[in-house]
Amino acid sequence: MKPRVLVARAVPPAVTERLRRHFEVEDNPGNAVWSPAELAARLQGCQGLFATNSERIDAPLLDACPELRVVANMVVGYNHVDVAACTARGVLVTNTPDVLTETTADFGFALMLAAARRMAEGERLLRRGEWKQWSFDMLTGSDVHGATLGILGMGRIGQAIARRGALGFGMKVIYHNRSRLAVEVEAGLGARYVGKDELLAQSDHLVLVLPYTAQSHHAIGGAELARMKPSATLTNIARGGIVDDAALALALREQRIAAAGLDVFEGEPALHPALLELPNVVLTPHIASATVATRRAMAELAADNLIAALTGGVPPTPVNPEVRVRPA
Ligand code: DGY
Repeated sequence: MKPRVLVARAVPPAVTERLRRHFEVEDNPGNAVWSPAELAARLQGCQGLFATNSERIDAPLLDACPELRVVANMVVGYNHVDVAACTARGVLVTNTPDVLTETTADFGFALMLAAARRMAEGERLLRRGEWKQWSFDMLTGSDVHGATLGILGMGRIGQAIARRGALGFGMKVIYHNRSRLAVEVEAGLGARYVGKDELLAQSDHLVLVLPYTAQSHHAIGGAELARMKPSATLTNIARGGIVDDAALALALREQRIAAAGLDVFEGEPALHPALLELPNVVLTPHIASATVATRRAMAELAADNLIAALTGGVPPTPVNPEVRVRPA
């Protein structure tokens, strides 16, 4: 008998077809986000879950689904998964690193440029029919080329952003990270390690690319925003919750920083209402990795992991590789 897997959200049809060659598949063509109770009910008898960051994988869910052996996530960030609880129950967790790095870095850079150069403000002004004439001081922003790019979190995506800044835009790149990169890696990127306070104080454009954990919750709040330059921009493509959105909205309203670009939000898809009122913030709906090719690659990699894990193979990108999946 084929193992049973649940695909929790809509995925490219070719990927579902591929999964059907190995498994009994229940999928979710309607793409609704299932409640925890519905997810648990649908997972009964399933050995595999193809998940996204819409699904909360925690101890109560795992305890309700004792046959579950693999959670294959079609995302790189896995703060929606209690990995320790999975490991304790022998459930393998996988994610999708690397395949989205360059696409996500492109988007982070675009969001930073849009905030610095006030693109969304200009677009909204045009749509309101308010453009009457050219003016030397209309929507003047700040330069990106030659400016100081600050990166908080220097993993794969942070490094891809550093390369764009240093090589493409002649930026001076500084970064802060839990651990400092090897000197030769820093040299290759043209990036300098600094303390968090210096990062905040020196950055003209600060980009957040760190994972969301208990330690990074509100890593940027009122105190951190107060250390930034009034001309600075802040871009968050990491996770909601890393920024205190209420404190950010206040800082933007009081022009204590110039502008922000946000792709992720605390409690998304809900947004802090104050953000919607502000002109100096560019808002996008968690789409940094959303190109056709990259979303397809993420889905294929999640399928590779699920198939390998449940058919005796070696999953390419495990999060808790110490877990050995029992044969289905
Ligand atoms: C990821 O892969 O973690 C992206 O944020 C998409 O959710």
